[in-house]
Amino acid sequence: MKVTVVGAGAVGASCAEYIAIKDFASEVVILDIKEGYAEGKAMDLMQTASLNGFDTKITGSTNDYSKTADSHIAVITSGIPRKPGMTREELIGINAGIVKTVSSSLLEHSPNVIIIVVSNPMDTMTYLVHKTTGLPKNRIIGMGGALDSARFKYRLAEAMEAPISDIDGMVIGGHSDKGMVPLTSHATRNSIRVSEFLSDERLEQVAADTKVGGATLTGLLGTSAWYAPGAAVSSMVQAIACDQKKMFPCSTLLDGEYGLKDICIGVPVILGKDGIEKVVDIPLSDAEKAKMKESAAGVSKTNGLLEL
Ligand SMILES: NC(=O)c1ccc[n+]([C@@H]2O[C@H](COP(=O)([O-])OP(=O)(O)OC[C@H]3O[C@@H](n4cnc5c(N)ncnc54)[C@H](O)[C@@H]3O)[C@@H](O)[C@H]2O)c1
Repeated sequence: MKVTVVGAGAVGASCAEYIAIKDFASEVVILDIKEGYAEGKAMDLMQTASLNGFDTKITGSTNDYSKTADSHIAVITSGIPRKPGMTREELIGINAGIVKTVSSSLLEHSPNVIIIVVSNPMDTMTYLVHKTTGLPKNRIIGMGGALDSARFKYRLAEAMEAPISDIDGMVIGGHSDKGMVPLTSHATRNSIRVSEFLSDERLEQVAADTKVGGATLTGLLGTSAWYAPGAAVSSMVQAIACDQKKMFPCSTLLDGEYGLKDICIGVPVILGKDGIEKVVDIPLSDAEKAKMKESAAGVSKTNGLLEL
């Protein structure tokens, strides 16, 4: 199992580290455009192998895609992150060019690769990869919902003063401050609905805090977060690599599911060896359906900025 991570920055390096620590891949190649940067990150990570107890071989490459040849899975994290006060949508100008070039270079050397898109605005970047590569839709997956759901569970656990392992919950919709749809009506603590423990007002606050989860961290860190994004991607890579058939909310090209067409947006999917093996249709309340529609309108507006 060979995994390529494009972008050796904060998220790319964190993702490579978690993949290595989970020890399920034989090889991880990190690639970056900055001279020597990916090689440096790879060497530093390899020097943690004896300490952290993994056998995954990590190598670095400065923009040489021949080193990524025959990858099973590739993660695209290359591109600029947002600074405090910026929206993800504002990154489209620079990141669209990068994501387009990177995906075609990956496919030249790994024609069967499954691509996970992380660069923002992620739903639009995922759509761009579809439009420019023509790959089957199961092989292009956007990462956003896995992270947003982890942030939702963190906020629910905090509000209930409960351990996070007690909590289950999911965020669907667009990966943006306004577009996320935290499914508060479906969230549970050990199978009991969270509404049994929290007031409507507190649940609304949890949802609001979840939606600005990324912006809150950008304000604190001065740049975009990396630990939880890296962990979220590594869990998705593991689900595919180990054919786990796990359910994650992921951005995927919809063709009528959830009443939406020709758009990539976060919905629950099953991840296994073929990438997205199934879109899971879950019943939504009328309010959730309306939020999903509004979220899709926002993603479509950003897609309209692409020069296709
Ligand atoms: N989808 C999500 O949930 C999520 C979460 C966090 C961050 N992000 C996004 O991920 C991206 C990366 O964030 P980061 O914090 O790691 O940024 P970063 O600046 O730390 O790293 C980005 C790296 O990409 C490299 N790069 C730029 N152009 C390249 C190219 N053409 N080929 C190869 N490498 C190239 C840069 O040299 C840099 O090392 C941003 O767009 C950010 O908004 C998405």
